[in-house]
Amino acid sequence: MSATAQGVEQRLRSIGQEHLLHFWDELSEAEREGLVRQIEDLPLERMPELIDRYVKRGEGFELPKDLEPAPYYPHDHTGRTGGPAWDRAEYKRAGERLLAEGKVACFVVAGGQGSRLGYEGPKGCYPTGAVSGKSLFQIFAEQILATGRKYGTPVPWYVLVSPLNHAATVGFFREHRYFGLHEQDVMFITQGVMPAVDKATGKILLAEKGEVATAPDGHGGSFDALVKSGAVADMRGRGVEHISYFQVDNPNVHCVDPVFLGLHATAPDSSGEMSSKMIPKASPAEKVGVFCRVGGAAGGKTAVIEYSDLPEELANQRDEHGHLRFIAGSIAIHAISLEFIERVVNDPKFRLPFHRAVKKVAHVDLRTGEKVEPAEPNAVKMEKFVFDAIPMAERSIVLETDRVEEFAPVKNREGPDSIVTSRQLQTERAARWLAQLGVDVPRTSDGEPDCVLEISPLTALFAEDLAQHTDIPKAIARGARVVI
Ligand code: UD1
Repeated sequence: MSATAQGVEQRLRSIGQEHLLHFWDELSEAEREGLVRQIEDLPLERMPELIDRYVKRGEGFELPKDLEPAPYYPHDHTGRTGGPAWDRAEYKRAGERLLAEGKVACFVVAGGQGSRLGYEGPKGCYPTGAVSGKSLFQIFAEQILATGRKYGTPVPWYVLVSPLNHAATVGFFREHRYFGLHEQDVMFITQGVMPAVDKATGKILLAEKGEVATAPDGHGGSFDALVKSGAVADMRGRGVEHISYFQVDNPNVHCVDPVFLGLHATAPDSSGEMSSKMIPKASPAEKVGVFCRVGGAAGGKTAVIEYSDLPEELANQRDEHGHLRFIAGSIAIHAISLEFIERVVNDPKFRLPFHRAVKKVAHVDLRTGEKVEPAEPNAVKMEKFVFDAIPMAERSIVLETDRVEEFAPVKNREGPDSIVTSRQLQTERAARWLAQLGVDVPRTSDGEPDCVLEISPLTALFAEDLAQHTDIPKAIARGARVVI
């Protein structure tokens, strides 16, 4: 055994996980090296504490007692619909200044396994454009390219991947020549992984004789990855101060929204650390996290309670107008300052918690050396969630946005949040943008667009950009499939 391997063995012994080297003698030299490297990258010293908390004691999420709905900036800024009025134009100018000064970078989290979609490759490669079938990555890339052109400064783009999809993701960008972006303005960051732990014994599982069973450590791991990879330092070198954060599954996302960035950076009730967008939940059971206020209306903190953690009774509560009380659904869009990311990563006071999930994890039986495909969930996986950082901000704001305008996620193979619903929402958004210009868009008797529409980000980032184009058709034919 090399000195490194001996060191690893000793560290494993000290935490009672030396069985990970059980098949050492059967491994090739390359497999041994791979295994040692993989183990060295795990947070071994933290494992006894984590296993005790999340596997042995099965510590789950504890609902704060004094949960109130979080306040938010209403989509209608005029005050006519009852909410507070706010100066949209002023915040837009503030956001545009940040963009023109090159102070904003984009950050997409694309390290998830996308198992619900049942797609083989990285989710960002999934053909999603309603007519063109453009991949999610291309839709985002074109928005980022157009934003750079609009404000005269390229917007650097950081893409979070996992060890499982890193090579495939980079390969896809290369194959498509970075969709017109400069290669040096696109950075891939590999997130960390956490080992899967046998729920009955507290032992870390082996996926193969020479490979630990691991899974990505959740998008909460993105903060660590941004700092450790040098991405934050790279951003600082470019003069970036804030990132615009979004998930890989939503083609209608505005990767960069000046109004939101302006509010985040300059609103009096925002500390400029971490801000979020929300849409009103469509139903109590909709699978989105909910923005809440914890610790009292005054001086309390904004937090997201994940859909699986929100008790049904609270999810169903209604106010005197019959609206859901906990209505602010998270669409996982945030603006985050670099300073805040560094503080959360470097100050142990701000460590993000893990969430446990009990899953079926295939593994090697130590006694027989045979692969086991469990019929029942057998292992605990641990993940961090990025939104757990929100309450760590001094003051965090939430901005309401319109569902059709900004949320058309592709999550499931079929049914809600599938490619079918996403394409309908993309079409509906395009139809609304065109109707604002006076274009005649045919609709069915149910009111659905009777056509399939897609507006390229290179044509327009927002509805208002369409007005600059003189070649927009006056009317769309019934049943047509049109890219504008
Ligand atoms: C997520 C949010 C939910 C929100 C909803 C909006 C969580 C736990 N919940 O639900 O509050 O209302 O989106 O659409 O996120 N990812 C990584 N690395 C990982 C794990 C995930 O990069 O280790 C990325 C995925 O690629 C994806 C995103 O995080 O872009 C969301 O992950 P997913 O597990 O699909 O969350 P949802 O259940 O859809």
